[in-house]
Amino acid sequence: MDTGSDMKLDRGYLIALEGIDGTGKTTQGNLLADYLEQRGLPVVRLREPTQGMWGQKIRRILTEGRGGTTPEEELQWFLNDRKEDVEQNIRPALNTNKLVVIDRYYFSTAAYQGALGFDPVKICADNEAFAPRPDRVLIFSGSLETSFERIAKGRDGFSSFEKKDYLQKVQAIFDSFEGPHIRRIDSDGSVEAVHGQVVTVVDALLGIGEPR
Ligand code: TYD
Repeated sequence: MDTGSDMKLDRGYLIALEGIDGTGKTTQGNLLADYLEQRGLPVVRLREPTQGMWGQKIRRILTEGRGGTTPEEELQWFLNDRKEDVEQNIRPALNTNKLVVIDRYYFSTAAYQGALGFDPVKICADNEAFAPRPDRVLIFSGSLETSFERIAKGRDGFSSFEKKDYLQKVQAIFDSFEGPHIRRIDSDGSVEAVHGQVVTVVDALLGIGEPR
């Protein structure tokens, strides 16, 4: 459906979708991007880990296990991957007034590598030294059981990060984030219900949408 002429933004916007595995971020990110494109907005869709060199190294430990990779190396790989993404994709899009919708960003590093023992507050600060802070961080959270059921149904198997006790720690760190850019999305509902929550947050950010 075409809803009209292209809309120009007065600046770039960055919206990050965060939360543990199986909370539906990718489905919701795609629905959000479609919704915004239908309104004529220039959307750039990204995800981390990326398909770049560091992202590929990361995906290897996700499928094959951490093996001999140390937590320090793992943390560094995620940072290297993000630095590339910021330079090559995120900053250029923001500088040309695009609306970036990204699945996972540095809050995932704070939560997942924080759950390995690193200080999540320091991880955020280290990232904010080079990575732009999002306008909104939508943190998807629901019951761990629902997330696990979704992972089991949706894919071939669990990655090496998808262990219940580990994800519980990751979830606790996601729960601890606060600030004016943070919004929580209840991910346990239907796809439509969750999309409704996402649209409400993004419409309010951009000052668009029908009066409700
Ligand atoms: P995920 O979004 O699940 O990718 P895909 O759906 O393509 O498999 O991300 C892969 C995993 O990487 C996920 O378990 C979270 C983890 N991760 C980190 O541990 N730290 C990070 O900084 C990021 C971006 C992801």
